[in-house]
Amino acid sequence: MVEFALPANSRPTAGKTWPKPAGAKRLKEFRIYRWSPDDGQNPRIDTYFIDRDDCAPMVLDALIWLKSHIDPTLTFRRSCREGVCGSCAMNIDGTNTLACTKDMDDVKGPVRIYPLPHLSVVKDLVPDLTNFYAQHASIEPWLQTTTPAPEKEWRQSPIEREKLDGLYECILCACCSTSCPSYWWNDDRYLGPAALLQAYRWLIDSRDEAAGERLDNVEDPFRLYRCHTIMNCAKACPKGLNPAKAIAEIKSLLIERQL
Ligand code: SF4
Ligand code: SF4
Ligand code: FES
Repeated sequence: MVEFALPANSRPTAGKTWPKPAGAKRLKEFRIYRWSPDDGQNPRIDTYFIDRDDCAPMVLDALIWLKSHIDPTLTFRRSCREGVCGSCAMNIDGTNTLACTKDMDDVKGPVRIYPLPHLSVVKDLVPDLTNFYAQHASIEPWLQTTTPAPEKEWRQSPIEREKLDGLYECILCACCSTSCPSYWWNDDRYLGPAALLQAYRWLIDSRDEAAGERLDNVEDPFRLYRCHTIMNCAKACPKGLNPAKAIAEIKSLLIERQL
């Protein structure tokens, strides 16, 4: 049965308010989801303050500042700090986005930070992406050919290459899939917008020769057709991509091959 309320042991409680940094003239407040698998406690929302004059402007800068100056146990993922690795995706001020490209001053009042929604939490702001990556692997995101490999390279015209624009830029941050209601309720069976965007990226690559198998792989009431064009995915994508459009294109390809 679908459960519409959080189980009692998942409800966040009021957490600790950490001391304000000494001597700071400009403070910015953060309320951050904390949970550890090790202490048997409910999640809690801790309140922190950063010294705005000692910290760079992005939300990820604030998290790193807090970890360095206030609370070394605060746990989150990050790598590039440039919006290209996708690892710092989290829910900030109610929206899934990248902490490293989100300006903290764009948030009025306290900055509320939660892990990406509807995923198991590993710790604090780190979600478990095991299923998300397995779904990506299941669409076989690599070039597949049957003709012998050319001596030098697989050629592609500029026009054919252009068709990959708006698709190849995906950084697998999971902001889209975790903002999709269909994915929330069926993430075990629905591939979700991120994996389907990549499925389409390979379907329309002029060099790939496995389109038939790729379509067979997604043609399923759950794997593909749980998309109801709600468009949350396109709104959430921090790279400005449109997974809903890619999903619609896959559906068109499936109709075309029946004609
Ligand atoms: S358009 Fe489809 S994939 Fe995107 S949020 Fe809606 S249901 Fe999910
Ligand atoms: S489509 Fe956008 S939101 Fe979805 S995983 Fe790729 S970059 Fe992230
Ligand atoms: S740290 Fe790489 S996208 Fe934010």
